[in-house]
Amino acid sequence: MEIYLDPGAFAEQLATDVRAGLTATPKALPPKYFYDAHGSDLFDRITRLPEYYPTRTERSILELHAGEIAAVTGAETLVELGSGTSEKTRLLLRALRDAGTLERFVPFDVDPAVLKDASSAVSDEFPSLDVEPVVGDFEKHLGELPRHPRRVLAFLGSTIGNLDPVQRHGFLTAVRGPLTEGDCFLLGTDLVKSIDRLVAAYDDAQGVTAAFNKNVLTVVNRDLGGDFDPAAFEHVAMWDDANEWIEMRLRSLRDQPVRIESLDLDVHFARGEEMRTEISAKFRPERVVEELAAAGLRLTQWWTDADGDFALSLSVPV
Ligand code: AVJ
Repeated sequence: MEIYLDPGAFAEQLATDVRAGLTATPKALPPKYFYDAHGSDLFDRITRLPEYYPTRTERSILELHAGEIAAVTGAETLVELGSGTSEKTRLLLRALRDAGTLERFVPFDVDPAVLKDASSAVSDEFPSLDVEPVVGDFEKHLGELPRHPRRVLAFLGSTIGNLDPVQRHGFLTAVRGPLTEGDCFLLGTDLVKSIDRLVAAYDDAQGVTAAFNKNVLTVVNRDLGGDFDPAAFEHVAMWDDANEWIEMRLRSLRDQPVRIESLDLDVHFARGEEMRTEISAKFRPERVVEELAAAGLRLTQWWTDADGDFALSLSVPV
């Protein structure tokens, strides 16, 4: 396993981000800290909720088109950014194996434990596949990816929606950087749709998303000695029409002080004050094409489901 992000650097980043976020106006916390073991588990439950359509829709697109993706890319190496459990990736790996081109799988994630599980599960199904996991932050370490011919870089699940337009430009430029002729980029993007469906997907009836949202407070409590009372905050999911993103927030139910011991930081939440915890941008097709182009990537294929809820796109360096 190649390691570009050690646990010390991750902890340092958490401290810096939490200090910056809690002292900003309005307050905010970055979404990447949702995913400790419990948060990853909650996210896994979210992906199976009736209201949360993105995961199953993206899977259905892959089920239909993985063969075509394999044929047009002829990929020897599949690099999956933010690979998580690599569950949907198997559909791609199977298609590439059946096409006879696949040699290597490079799962890339911030979490070594997740990578270890994903790698051994993939190795079980694909015994002759070369699996080379990389621990890194996709906002920082894309330059370190192993150089092989005919790579497909995949970034699925609409994780790109967590980035604002400026961050997306930086990310897409970083993705474009190491790509050479014969390589390509496979991107999953959630699409703009009715507000009711969007909001329901982030405010489910069972309250799993609410628990996921509040879990970031538990992470700060445990890792930085915070004293957040999760019960004193409520989950908010709203559609921001101007930015075309879903915004998740935590609303303070009362006037309350919060202390973060490891940061020696005391902050105050007013009753009703809202702290942003995540944006989840939704895209129109033109916007995907434009943002790829601005980073030096030319769209070559676009696949969507019958309802136009989610899209997979393939692009190549220009
Ligand atoms: C993993 C970032 C794609 O934005 O839909 C799910 C995270 N947040 N429910 C998303 C999430 C609330 C998810 N991504």
